[in-house]
Amino acid sequence: MRILFDETNLLAEVVGKGNGISRSEAERSRGKALKALAGFRKQSEQGLYGFPHLPFQADVIKSVTQFAASVRGTYDTVCVVGIGGSALGAWALDCGLRGPHPVQGAFTTEHPRLVILDNVDPSFTAQALASMDREKTLVVVIAKSGGTAETVSTFLIVREWLNNPQRIVAVTTQGKGDLFSLAEKEGYKIFGIPENVGGRFSVLSPVGLVPAALIGIDIRKLCKGAAEMTHLCWSEDLTQNIALRAALYHWLVWTRKGKPIQVAFPYANHLWGTAFWFRQLWAESLGKARNRKGETIHTGQTPIAALGATDQHSQVQLYIEGPNDKVFTFWAVEKFSAAGKIPKVKTGLPAFDALSGQSLAKLIDVEQKATAAAMVANGRPNCTVTLGKVDEEHLGAFLQMMEFQTAFIGELLDINAFDQEGVELGKKFTFALMGRPGYDEWRKQFAAYETKRGKA
Ligand code: PA5
Repeated sequence: MRILFDETNLLAEVVGKGNGISRSEAERSRGKALKALAGFRKQSEQGLYGFPHLPFQADVIKSVTQFAASVRGTYDTVCVVGIGGSALGAWALDCGLRGPHPVQGAFTTEHPRLVILDNVDPSFTAQALASMDREKTLVVVIAKSGGTAETVSTFLIVREWLNNPQRIVAVTTQGKGDLFSLAEKEGYKIFGIPENVGGRFSVLSPVGLVPAALIGIDIRKLCKGAAEMTHLCWSEDLTQNIALRAALYHWLVWTRKGKPIQVAFPYANHLWGTAFWFRQLWAESLGKARNRKGETIHTGQTPIAALGATDQHSQVQLYIEGPNDKVFTFWAVEKFSAAGKIPKVKTGLPAFDALSGQSLAKLIDVEQKATAAAMVANGRPNCTVTLGKVDEEHLGAFLQMMEFQTAFIGELLDINAFDQEGVELGKKFTFALMGRPGYDEWRKQFAAYETKRGKA
């Protein structure tokens, strides 16, 4: 497994003092990084946060693998019903290890397709159902809380459409919540989500592992790569611990050089789903009103997903000439599964002949390096994470690295990166407006808001 982090283009010596961090400044902050590592390690050992332990849960990996083997061949589609952290990990894995965005392959019972119902758009849901054969579909409903309005409502539609509890798997908190109660009552196969693993950190729990195993991904290899990365992430040696080094540099550039936006910029269609998974991880974990002392800080760095080389023709003009408020993280791949050999031709036309006989693999690599250099020329700080290739081990390691990096920045900011109070009020208003009993207080608050709008 080979994953590298190159921070050179974040250095003041390269990108200029106003936008980069000097090596000596980073060196002086090393103590803070080590304190963040120790702080997070202590909380993890106390059992407060469970994601570092997930790749080592051999019993869970075994039971999910066995279950997937026992049902293989009986379906050609896996339909996940879930939202946020209960859906994005499955998308990242499917996109990473099977059909790259936006290609849809030909799916069979050997290579089942994954349909993710993560929105309550009625047209989308109706079309998805129309595209599936209920006799050949396995449904996986995922909700840690067991009561998320979007998931519950879509699931009721899918459950009626399927009309077969034996083809439903529930992934939820063991022994708690309405989904668990329904699953027990109707006899679904149930996999538990550990209480100390939050949605956006749950890709290596049954939340991501169950859909992955069902569509034929080798979850042992996925967890092997993540386990290897976990060992590195506990190291105090910053050359080894790339998650901690990346966290330190990102924190310094963000907070000291005024970069409130980070662009996650994969140069690989297979990593496009991961970019969307990362957006949630970064936004929900680091966007907070208060620090742990209770002081109001309104911190956060807005994550944006861009795809190279495609978005060079869509976003890069803004990135290079617009406001200098962003840091760019390229995700590069050393070895693609195909070289994309360009035929050797002689047309006498320079645009064609210059590329003749070369390869798409070389071109995409050169384009990423060229964009990084153009950014430096314009004082735009950027860094690169390079994956040896996109396979189970590398993707598992990369996802785990990103989770550690997020947890470490949470420590550096002295915030709780594992809660999401900010989304609660909107959820309460939704339940109130859908007539759920016990939500009178929020019905009144919403009415007051409507009155205010009416007077404006
Ligand atoms: O990261 C999180 O905790 C959230 O994004 C949740 O995953 C999301 O709100 C869905 O929650 P649940 O799994 O309870 O349906």
